[in-house]
Amino acid sequence: MRLSVIGCGYLGAVHAACMAKLGHDVVGIDVDPAKIAGLNEGQAPFFEPGLPELLADSLGTGRLRFSTDMADAAGSAVHFVAVGTPQKRTENGADLTHVYAAVDALLLHLRPGDIVVGKSTVPVGTARDLSLRIADGCPGASLVWNPEFLREGFAVQDTLEPDRLVYGLADPANGAQLILDEVYAQALADVRPRLVMDYETAELVKVSANAFLATKISFINAMAEVCEASGADVSLLADAIGHDVRIGRKFLNAGLGFGGGCLPKDIRAFMARAGELGADQALTFLREVDSINMRRRSRMVDLTREVCGGSLLGQRIAVLGLAFKPNSDDVRDSPALSVAAQLQLQGAAVTACDPEAVPNAARRFPELAYTTSVEEAVQNADAVVVLTEWEQYRTLDPAALGRLVARPAIVDGRNCLEPSVWRDAGWTYRALGRPKAA
Ligand code: UGA
Repeated sequence: MRLSVIGCGYLGAVHAACMAKLGHDVVGIDVDPAKIAGLNEGQAPFFEPGLPELLADSLGTGRLRFSTDMADAAGSAVHFVAVGTPQKRTENGADLTHVYAAVDALLLHLRPGDIVVGKSTVPVGTARDLSLRIADGCPGASLVWNPEFLREGFAVQDTLEPDRLVYGLADPANGAQLILDEVYAQALADVRPRLVMDYETAELVKVSANAFLATKISFINAMAEVCEASGADVSLLADAIGHDVRIGRKFLNAGLGFGGGCLPKDIRAFMARAGELGADQALTFLREVDSINMRRRSRMVDLTREVCGGSLLGQRIAVLGLAFKPNSDDVRDSPALSVAAQLQLQGAAVTACDPEAVPNAARRFPELAYTTSVEEAVQNADAVVVLTEWEQYRTLDPAALGRLVARPAIVDGRNCLEPSVWRDAGWTYRALGRPKAA
């Protein structure tokens, strides 16, 4: 089938490559000429495991190409809209400029029978409004709202093997559903649930899923605050409550909290939209979820200051990790970068390392010293802080590292190290939500 994917950011670039992998003829369209030129050369605009191989494969077979010209969408049966919906500059709501611009530009090339598939994360009510616009601009074309649940770092796998597909439809009898089933035939082959609903519910499934995940993380981080106050250990607590299948252990990792391009802005946009709908009271708890999350960053700075003897002034701090999570080079709203910047602003001399995120971090906060080498970062450090739990940081050898630092003190912002291993090797080990010493 011929498909177009409008917007080649995180979501769109991965979606386009995965649809080509499923055997479709795909054109990815974006307004950024540099991004399109790179993609046509097989260069992913961000770090995502598996994506470069997928791009090379599909570009090679000719099933995938990228363009800056919306006219290239003409002739496709299905058009995915995967543009960004960032937080507005001055308020919490989502900025829908790109979504409306993409749909308006696409309208000029739509034919009756075409299907527009919305994948961007939008405030509830957007899909119905867009469907009226499409019905006006091209009678006979229709809109399906098909939110995406992929995680960065697992984006290819999540797109090719989604745990569920959600279709929001204006009218289940209009045939769009069957065409989308055909697009996803391979992904549906292993009997994955395909859930059909109205537009509003489909839009809410996406934002409520992210709100739930954010709440789960802030819940365990709130428990971490109580653990710190009482001398308890949040990691043991999470393991113990996680055994209850009704609770589950996933997303109960206490630490620096959530960041990235989705969870923080999505909960804020959700609150803003609920307010517009007169249902703001229903989501006031998300304000607390947001503040618990932000408090973890300050607590991490405080803990580092404590380890440094009460002042950060002139202290050499080695920061391990800058990305908002491992297997990503994304530093959008990254708790790690925000803590690293705070440490520096409070007088420390920070050398920060990350295997992938250094270029993005350096663009956002050029004042830090950056390296990709742990050995370089920790040289003569007064304290080492772990802010992103990359596998290579989890498995560091405390004895070897101990020979490079000025003072063997480590603060584990992600609860990803084994305290006894570090303490036995002579280190002062501190972590968020864990007692001072065993
Ligand atoms: C999130 C959702 O998990 C996806 O399902 C969704 O599709 C995506 O947003 C989106 O809306 O596009 P992602 O932003 O890639 O995916 O990252 P997550 O894996 O959810 O992690 C988010 C943040 O929470 C990271 O900073 C991570 O370090 C933090 N986290 C996660 C914790 O602090 N503790 C945990 O137990 C889990």
